[in-house]
Amino acid sequence: MEMIRLSRISVVVGCLSTSLSLFLQGVYGQGQPYAQCGGQGWTGPTTCVAGWTCVYSNDWYSQCLQVTTTAGTTSRTTTTPRTTTSSSSRTSSSKTTTFVSSKTTTSSSRTSTTLSTTTRYTTTSAAPSATGCVIYVSTAGSDSNTGAINSPFAGIQKAVDTAKPGCTIYIRGGTYKPSKNIQVGKSGTASQRYTVAAYPGEKVIIDGDNMTGTPAALDASLDNADRGIFHIQNANYWTFKSLELINGPYGIYNRDASYNDFLDLITHDNYESGFQLEGNVAYCNVINLDSYMNRDPRKNGESADGLAIKQGRGEGNVVRGCRLWNNVDDGIDLWMFETPILIENTLAWGNGVNRWGFSPFEGDGNGFKLGGGDPDVPANHIVRNCFSFRNAVDGFTDNGNYGKLTLDHNTAWKNNGTGFDFADSPSKLTNNLASNNKATYTLGSGGSQSGNSWNIGGTWNDARFISTDTSLVTGPRDSNNMIPASNFLLLADGTTTGATTHM
Ligand SMILES: *[C@@H]1O[C@H](CO)[C@@H](O)[C@H](O)[C@H]1NC(C)=O
Ligand SMILES: *[C@@H]1O[C@H](CO)[C@@H](O)[C@H](O)[C@H]1NC(C)=O
Repeated sequence: MEMIRLSRISVVVGCLSTSLSLFLQGVYGQGQPYAQCGGQGWTGPTTCVAGWTCVYSNDWYSQCLQVTTTAGTTSRTTTTPRTTTSSSSRTSSSKTTTFVSSKTTTSSSRTSTTLSTTTRYTTTSAAPSATGCVIYVSTAGSDSNTGAINSPFAGIQKAVDTAKPGCTIYIRGGTYKPSKNIQVGKSGTASQRYTVAAYPGEKVIIDGDNMTGTPAALDASLDNADRGIFHIQNANYWTFKSLELINGPYGIYNRDASYNDFLDLITHDNYESGFQLEGNVAYCNVINLDSYMNRDPRKNGESADGLAIKQGRGEGNVVRGCRLWNNVDDGIDLWMFETPILIENTLAWGNGVNRWGFSPFEGDGNGFKLGGGDPDVPANHIVRNCFSFRNAVDGFTDNGNYGKLTLDHNTAWKNNGTGFDFADSPSKLTNNLASNNKATYTLGSGGSQSGNSWNIGGTWNDARFISTDTSLVTGPRDSNNMIPASNFLLLADGTTTGATTHM
């Protein structure tokens, strides 16, 4: 990992003037805002730039966070990892407390409004454990086999039905095309999770084209049970890893199901949202998802998003390191989700364009649609170090969510609506960068703002950036499944307004 990161730096400095390269070498020796700065297997920087502190999140992930002391909000004041064992970090009690409340305060009043950044198992380096029960599925298998590595099942559903808590289901490489979607409806425990993963090093595609609702007719309804290549309901403590889900009636549909981890998934060309969390959903991690070209012919583009966390509630949900692009509706959509969600290190672009000839076209086209409803509900979402560019409408919008949202170090560039549209909320906007959007920002009464590009003033055009080459962030992920670090939309003068891919 160190080799990879060092080579990135040498590529970076190779393109720059000597004085700037010296400056950047200094900066990137320390973690950038919201960058990883520790965790098992981590060999990159373990300290952060001035004003930022390396905070333990879980055994696999520490992160540079800003030390704040605002009453009633998070006070992240320590760099010391918790002294708990790795197994205790996966218990449900650790999931229901924030890092801060478990670490630096015993006041129960502090736990009520703080958005947890304590998550479980959130990095790609946390490979699914395959000790103990392992069940194999292969395109060359048979459901009358035993499920052992040399006697694999053919059906993913067969493996799910056979698995007991603690089992890992390894799907061997290949394309699977089940005619029925896969029902996941039972729970593991905090210490006995279920895992469904591609066999390490092998590429697994699950094609939903033969499932019901691909597509459903215009204005037809889609039965709840038919939603999702994986329909996950009343099923807690599952991990899904390294699967590509295409042409389905939704890719992942997780409803009334909590403590689930979704790592390194790809969802594209589905006939509804690529990925949806709905209902009573808590402590789910959506990490390093790529979700694109999802569309909904049955609604002419009204509701297929890259990532939808909609119509529900529950604490502790985290979105990190995702890319959501060219979806018919929005990149991310939090419509009628009532509880704060943490979104970071995520990019959305090209959403809301009618690439399918729908008529009349109903797509919205916001990169980050952070609420809305009928009626609107307030939710204090936190969005940081995210990029939103070239979307049909807004970069980031409260969309009627009248909660107090926090947006820090995000970049909105070349969106056809407003960069930061928070007209309906008393939100807090800090250190964000808006460049070349149709309009720059709005903010409701009671909101606060500082350090944003429009507060700093001056001209924020493309000449300000080291690079505007979108291929730096739209191409393949690196060997750790991270978005490659680059100069994309970094300011040439070295100031750190807006987002960075150095994370
Ligand atoms: C898909 O469905 C069609 C029609 O039901 C069937 O003929 C075909 O065999 C199915 N394909 C697969 C791969 O199951
Ligand atoms: C933004 O507007 C321009 C000019 O009308 C148009 O060419 C472009 O396709 C639009 N982009 C998106 C993402 O809608």
